[in-house]
Amino acid sequence: MSASASRPRPLVAGNWKMNGLKAGLAEARAVIARLAEPGFATGADAMICPPATLLAELATLAKGTRLQVGGQDCHTAVSGANTGDISAQMLADAGVTAVIVGHSERRADHAESSALVRKKAEAALAAGLTPIICIGETAGERQAGLTLQVVRRQLEDSLPSASNPANTVVAYEPVWAIGTGQTPTATDVAEVHAAIRETLVKRLGPGASALRLLYGGSVKASNARELMGVANVDGALVGGASLKASDFLGIFAEAYAS
Ligand code: PGA
Repeated sequence: MSASASRPRPLVAGNWKMNGLKAGLAEARAVIARLAEPGFATGADAMICPPATLLAELATLAKGTRLQVGGQDCHTAVSGANTGDISAQMLADAGVTAVIVGHSERRADHAESSALVRKKAEAALAAGLTPIICIGETAGERQAGLTLQVVRRQLEDSLPSASNPANTVVAYEPVWAIGTGQTPTATDVAEVHAAIRETLVKRLGPGASALRLLYGGSVKASNARELMGVANVDGALVGGASLKASDFLGIFAEAYAS
């Protein structure tokens, strides 16, 4: 099999974070409608990760369409006395197929370690969900020349032993690029994604070339083609530009027009 034949099918996942009331589902409906148009970005998969309050309703809307639905976080346990938390099994029960774990906002605001992130990813796998494991360096770490070291360590420590190329997604999100409008250069992204791929191949074997490796951090229509064209970039995790259907769809139109 040639290298290109094993290239993963791209995924563009929108992370709504703590944004979106019921009225916001109109944006998701518009995304579903556009994805249903013949020939529109047929080479890529699409996902929206709304706040927990909208998960079940969006999963119902998206059933049988091209739009997949993901959660933004899960607990490590299946059930129990964990006020305010949601288990991976509950997400699956709501119709969700994936869950983001280890987003830098969780790591920073909720002091989540890579060991905890790994346990969350394990819980996701056990519930039949695809964990989207986020890793990425801070501005200070990049300035200190520690980017590859930090990213490799986070990946090693966050990846469950049950992960394989088909059941797990990894997202590289430099913390300084999230919500700032700043992005690394294509060369910088290529360097980090190559290092991540190499680490995955060491852990999982040559089949790791089929694991989807997303880039995230200020992705929008105007930079999508360049960033999605970088070697080892198999899609995007999108925050701000996923909230409006026109912005989100613009990323597909630019990077994956078919
Ligand atoms: P952003 O967020 O696209 O708004 O930079 C990305 C993310 O946090 O996943």
